[in-house]
Amino acid sequence: MADIPYQTVARKLQGQRVMLVGGAGFIGHNVALELRRLGVETSVLDNMMVNHLVDNAYHDRGDQVKRRLNLHFLSSRVEMMRDAGVKLKNVDARNFSDLARAFDEFKPTKVVHMSAIASAVDARKDPGLCFDLQLVTLRNVIELCRLTHDQVNLIMFMSSSTVYGDFEGASVDENTRPSPRGIYANAKYMGERLLRDYCHQYGLGVSIIRPSALYGERCVSRRVSQAFVENALAGRPLLLEGGGDGRLDFTYIDDLVEGMVRALALQNGQGLSNTFNMTFGNARTIADLAAIVKDIVPNAILEERPRALDKPVRGTLSMDRARDVLGFIPKWPLEKGYRKYCEWYVEEWRRVVGKNA
Ligand SMILES: NC(=O)c1ccc[n+]([C@@H]2O[C@H](COP(=O)([O-])OP(=O)(O)OC[C@H]3O[C@@H](n4cnc5c(N)ncnc54)[C@H](O)[C@@H]3O)[C@@H](O)[C@H]2O)c1
Repeated sequence: MADIPYQTVARKLQGQRVMLVGGAGFIGHNVALELRRLGVETSVLDNMMVNHLVDNAYHDRGDQVKRRLNLHFLSSRVEMMRDAGVKLKNVDARNFSDLARAFDEFKPTKVVHMSAIASAVDARKDPGLCFDLQLVTLRNVIELCRLTHDQVNLIMFMSSSTVYGDFEGASVDENTRPSPRGIYANAKYMGERLLRDYCHQYGLGVSIIRPSALYGERCVSRRVSQAFVENALAGRPLLLEGGGDGRLDFTYIDDLVEGMVRALALQNGQGLSNTFNMTFGNARTIADLAAIVKDIVPNAILEERPRALDKPVRGTLSMDRARDVLGFIPKWPLEKGYRKYCEWYVEEWRRVVGKNA
């Protein structure tokens, strides 16, 4: 195992200029804040449309509590980035000339591609938009990286654990053959393959990250980790399909951010590509998640439901490679990370919604 202190990692990033495309999202703004904490010049490009301010402020989904909370989380992201000195620019990465202007102005040395419909379920409802936000934007980003190849030493791509498809055993590592299902996972896998090819043909330094089931402060994606605590506070039941025996490799955002920062600092070889699972590395059940919520919100209602037949079969992503190459050891098991997140959520709920809402 590589023992690489975080200070060494931070030192390697000094003088680098990191651009995050789709960087005002959940993962992106957290990475941007950490990079600024380490003193790294950071630029965020985002059109703030899908799963962001436009979606949440404009479209009335009939749930005013959720709308108020989401708008509060989203504006907090923007304020925190402004206070930290992140350069935020409203750019739609589908537009090549706007993106080219942003590259020209900021002159990045490392670029992270994160724009997407970041939900397989939502992507299935609008496959054309999924294709555009993941792959048209990626086409523009990799072409600009190729054209500024002497300046950009790394392109990082946010892929997903969904590229593995249904798990055949309890865990997968990066040598497990991908078997993506659906538009979201297939677009991620296509992106990975294009990047590896740009690495081999044009010498781009490439780092591919496969996260899974993230949770953490200011997320508005309403995955099960957010839906459970929100439902508990709103008096709605927490639905446990098949008794809650489905397993996911739940990952706290601070772990992912550290892993990404390590990869950004340590993976910079022109012509080299590497792929990393980036999770906590231990799948847990949905029932485990519900038990933590119940502990924090004792009147939470748990309700069992039959298992959906098309539910994906998931499990643990091995973290051996990230540990060996990047010296990355996740620090936040569910009992610690999810509890911290739920406690934070309860406080925010009290502040924004008030006790009687
Ligand atoms: N959160 C997870 O659990 C998870 C797991 C695996 C992979 N990922 C991947 O990581 C990436 C980031 O995920 P996230 O959770 O931060 O999602 P997110 O929805 O919070 O962030 C995505 C960001 O991309 C921006 N965006 C979309 N289209 C754009 C465009 N055309 N131009 C500029 N910006 C655009 C959105 O406005 C949003 O801010 C995504 O690619 C997602 O698929 C996330």
